[in-house]
This record gives sequence, C-alpha cells and structure tokens, in this order.
Amino acid sequence: LTDPDLRRSLLTWYHRCGRVLPWRNHPDPYAIWVSEIMLQQTQVKTVIPYYQRWLEAFPTIAALAAAPQQQVLKLWQGLGYYARARNLHRAAQMLVHQGDGSFPQDLQTVLALPGIGRTTAGGILSAAFNQPVAILDGNVKRVLVRLLALDRPISQVLPQLWEASEALLDRHHPRDFNQALMDLGATVCTPKNPACLICPWRSACGAYALNRTAELPMGETS
Ligand code: ADE
Repeated sequence: LTDPDLRRSLLTWYHRCGRVLPWRNHPDPYAIWVSEIMLQQTQVKTVIPYYQRWLEAFPTIAALAAAPQQQVLKLWQGLGYYARARNLHRAAQMLVHQGDGSFPQDLQTVLALPGIGRTTAGGILSAAFNQPVAILDGNVKRVLVRLLALDRPISQVLPQLWEASEALLDRHHPRDFNQALMDLGATVCTPKNPACLICPWRSACGAYALNRTAELPMGETS
C-alpha cells in the first residue's frame, strides 16, 4: 500500500468510527491548547469533566492570565502533574503581557511556550489551524512501530518515528489525519489485544504480517 492509500483508508475509517470529543473541531485555539495539555498525561475520559470546568472558569486566555494561581491549581486538583497547570497559567500571562493575548499560529513561537513540546505543538497547530505539523504521542508511537515492524525499543527509534509521522501526514487534511492517528492508537491499535480485524491499516501493517503485534513495540507491557 502506498502513502496515499494509507491516508485515504485512515480518513475513511475516522469519518465512520472516530470518537466525538468536546475539543474536536472547537473553534477556539485556546480550548484546544487546554485539552492537549490535559491529555499529555491523563486519559480522555478523565480529562473531559476537567476540561469543561476549566473552560467555564477560564473561558479565555485573558481570564486565565488574570486568575489567582490558587484557583488555577484548585481546578487542576485530581489531574496530577501540577506543573502542567502552572505552565498553562504562566504561558497565558506571557501571551497577554508580551503579545495581544491570542494563541500564536507560528510553530517556533508555540514551542517557546512553557509546557509545550513537539507533539503538543503539532496537536494544537493541526487541530486549531489545520496546519501540517506532525505529532508523535504514545498512541501514535505504538501505531507506527507496528506499521513499520520496528523491533527496537521506542527510545532508539524516535527519529524514524517522527520521520514516518511527517511522511504519512495528509497535507490536505492534517487536522483530521492527526486526530485519526490518535484514535487508531487509542481504540484499535491498543497495547493489548489490538483489534487488527477492523484496522484500516491491517493490510499494510508489518507487525500484523509477521504475527508480532503482541510483541511490538518492544518493552511495552501496559
Ligand atoms: N491525546 C492527545 N491529544 C488528543 C486528542 N486531540 N484527541 C484524543 N486524544 C488525544
């Protein structure tokens, strides 16, 4: 299968089977940013009520910037990894005091904000502005390791995985493509007992062809 085939089959699957999530196709880049920070270390179903409460309390970047840190941390209570909340708060203050209070559209500017690394920047810019910026979160790493049947620990193949994510990315539909890739990893290409029989990439998957989906990625047990 060629890359265009993979793009088409993934997008077709996503339009039929993708999850409906509150931040999907949200018009406000700030809301997408908040969701991506919450989703860094926390599962979707835990995030949803926190995300909704957060946006009610802090509906805009300006509202977040003006809030006392104590209130910010209180709304994060239970999500863990509190540095995420402090970084969101600090970044909002930077955007208000050093800019016009809007969320930046430029990759380097986004990467300079506290708490935003390469995959979060790609997740935000593709979802908020449909920019062709690749992602590589935990789910996507597993999907690509299996697709390519890489039998080395993930930590040793990160450059290849980034390259694959960038090469595969659908430049005409980056928003849907990245969301689809995350959904594929979360709902089909799961760590245990992946649902290969319903996978849109089954016929291209190296791990499936070699009957090694249970062993790959190497070193992953969860
Ligand atoms: N994990 C990180 N970003 C996500 C998103 N936009 N949708 C679902 N899971 C995610």
